[in-house]
Amino acid sequence: MGSTEVQAKAGSDVINEPSQALPIASAEDAAKNAHASFKDSFSYSSYLRLEQLLGAQAPLTEAHDETLFIAIHHVQEVWMSLIIKELAAATEHLAKHEFDPAMKMLSRVSRAQEQMSNAWEVLKTMTPADYLMFRHAFGKASGFQSWQYRSVEFLLGNRQRYMLKPFAEQPEHHARLSALIDAPSIYDVSLSLLAERGLLAPAALRSKFDDVPVANAAVLAAWVAVYRNTESHWDLYYLAEKLVDVEDNFRRWRFNHVTTVERLIGYKPGSGGTAGVAYLRKVLDVVLFPELWQVRTEL
Ligand code: HEM
Repeated sequence: MGSTEVQAKAGSDVINEPSQALPIASAEDAAKNAHASFKDSFSYSSYLRLEQLLGAQAPLTEAHDETLFIAIHHVQEVWMSLIIKELAAATEHLAKHEFDPAMKMLSRVSRAQEQMSNAWEVLKTMTPADYLMFRHAFGKASGFQSWQYRSVEFLLGNRQRYMLKPFAEQPEHHARLSALIDAPSIYDVSLSLLAERGLLAPAALRSKFDDVPVANAAVLAAWVAVYRNTESHWDLYYLAEKLVDVEDNFRRWRFNHVTTVERLIGYKPGSGGTAGVAYLRKVLDVVLFPELWQVRTEL
């Protein structure tokens, strides 16, 4: 059976039979009709492509902790792929003034970011001595070359041309990131909503997007107007707070990362060729939505 037929079959197979009357003697009894043949349907592992997913856990050394190191990176990349999808869709909805689905997606982004931040707790069970057992194996590889991480940053508005450098030999990723760097971020789209409401002069909107946003007095004044009159501008106010949630979580991720890195490699240069902790401390200063933090002082 071809995969389309399997999908059609799987789709028609969705049944909501009434559950057996309670009480049930045992779990084994309750599971007596559990499916055991999957010739005409997806199974759990075939649907999820588990062999491919778990096959990607391929340590290069015998070091016990290398599996943990790979698994944490995979977990983070899987969450990032979801976040990219949600942020891109939220931005599109906002551009069409569809606030409700955009807010739902931003909430999901925040929850996923929390999972990403918590993952550091597992990685911290690895010591510098454990790490040194396999560090030699992965050469110049570094999260600095994560195209998904850069996509998240670019969608949120932290864009700088130097970030494209590690993708020089990967034309597909380079092209995708270059397109993102020149397109309005979710914050740029939010600011155009302020302009459409008459809270911000259109001249205050950026027309070139390939840099980190710089705080702008007119944008700040527009957010002040929103926060001083939340009832009239509830949707914009709600959007602003959702964006603050996302930046708050992003900062936590960065902070947890740099602290974990300091624990593991001290002040050595990074495998990606940067100054290591000194570089990661510097990027902690980046502010994604500057006026949304400044507005608090003005109220
Ligand atoms: C043993 C654990 C880790 C160490 C020692 C470490 C170290 C570093 C260092 C030193 C940098 C600076 C760039 C460079 O390599 O020169 C960096 C960047 C980065 N790392 Fe890690 N890292 C670790 C775990 C992770 C994990 C689990 C992730 C998850 C994907 C990750 C994602 C990133 C990203 C996205 C950057 C770029 C940050 C930026 O440019 O703002 N790292 N890492």
